[in-house]
Amino acid sequence: MVSRPRRITDVPRSSARVPFALAAALFLTACGGGVQGTPGAPGVRDPYFPRAGNGGYDVTHYGLALSYDPGSRELTGRAEITARATQDLSAFNLDLKGLDVGSVSVEGRGARWNRTGQELTVRPPGDLDRGETFHVRVGYSGTPETITDPDGSEEGWLRTADGALALGEPTGSAAWFPGSHHPGDKASYDIAVTVPAGLRAVSNGELRSETSGRGRSTFRWHTAEPMASYLAMVAIGRYDIRRSTTKSGLPLYVAVDPAEAKASAKVLARLPEILAWEEDAFGPYPFSAAGAVVDDADGVGYALETQTRPVFPGAPDTATLVHELAHQWFGDSVTPDSWQDMWLNEGFATYAEWLWEEEHGGDTADETFDALYRGDYYDDPASGEAVWAFPPARPSGAAHISDSPVYERGAMVLHKVRETVGDTAFRRIVRGWAAAHRHGNAGTADFTAYVEKKAPDRDFDVIWRDWLYGDGRPSRP
Ligand code: TRP
Ligand code: ZN
Repeated sequence: MVSRPRRITDVPRSSARVPFALAAALFLTACGGGVQGTPGAPGVRDPYFPRAGNGGYDVTHYGLALSYDPGSRELTGRAEITARATQDLSAFNLDLKGLDVGSVSVEGRGARWNRTGQELTVRPPGDLDRGETFHVRVGYSGTPETITDPDGSEEGWLRTADGALALGEPTGSAAWFPGSHHPGDKASYDIAVTVPAGLRAVSNGELRSETSGRGRSTFRWHTAEPMASYLAMVAIGRYDIRRSTTKSGLPLYVAVDPAEAKASAKVLARLPEILAWEEDAFGPYPFSAAGAVVDDADGVGYALETQTRPVFPGAPDTATLVHELAHQWFGDSVTPDSWQDMWLNEGFATYAEWLWEEEHGGDTADETFDALYRGDYYDDPASGEAVWAFPPARPSGAAHISDSPVYERGAMVLHKVRETVGDTAFRRIVRGWAAAHRHGNAGTADFTAYVEKKAPDRDFDVIWRDWLYGDGRPSRP
């Protein structure tokens, strides 16, 4: 697990394999071109995680080949990254936390590289031209780390009783593969995972193949639709697998740790029903596969909306299943521009729970809103007060992006919009928003502009000012 930081002038092992004549030729070509590339930025200036992601290129595809042995806890990985340069590049960064890098190549040629903290800086043998598509290959290994977030929750590579669970919100994906780990850079994925025979590996998207030999099994997963890296997932262990197809033809793949099978059977049986209800509310399901993973992961205190296949650290309740499936539209398909726009994920997923309640014999969204506004939604007054700690669109710090102003008060913003436009127009806005930014990214200003465009005769100024951006509890419900 030792990874010594290198200075950029160090010549890494891999460079020794590039014949001198070739290296010299490349050097001359790069210089002879006249255009001087510059290094890509080490982050994309996210207001909450400034080092997340990287400047100078966009990833279009990740091909990951991972091999993991729960006994030794050793991960061996090869990442093949396809990217497009957005500037003339002399160097670029990848985000990688821990692990040992063994080799880096760009366009099949050994590249120089060095590491500083979570940044892996790669210097290709020649400059990359703006607009050029290039391929990076990184070989790495080691014991992947569990990362503790600013808010104290754990992500990255997590051990379970019979294997491991890899989760990445907001930055944990850097613990298991090098990449541009910011929600603004979405890509397609092929994830192949090799594990000891008897275990299974589950990931996002469609299972393309499952092969065994020499005491090991390999599972190849494919995600065609753009995915933010924080939504990539791998679950390794023993699982009961249930495959089925919904009435609308969507393939479901549900993996359940046998220890959680009994407790989760009833709620998981409602998965098709919940998806159908959400399609009705939010529009067509945005991906070509769906499902869930229920693991036995005591240390993980949260469920996560990993793309096509949300992860639950134990048997979920119906509300949590509704919430994580709603994220497939809000968060996974329409992904926030930055971690500041987190309320667009959590406000919508929370509001989905309120709507589900309302339409299934529980409290109306209006009643839920009122209880939150009065302060008796929670049993303890401190939690009631915490809803007003900061405005949904301006979390008070990286440690607070999953606090209740983002979730509950975010949902309250949506309820205010609904009140203002009426139920029919609200439905149109919710479905239209999901359609307008399907498979893309969007920020808070896009949302307010969209709502205003769809209801030009209504005034939203007070909602945006007091509910979305304003400090404290707004004076009127
Ligand atoms: N997104 C998860 C959910 O509500 C919760 C969560 C897990 C989270 N890890 C996080 C939120 C890290 C913010 C940051 O479904
Ligand atoms: Zn959520």
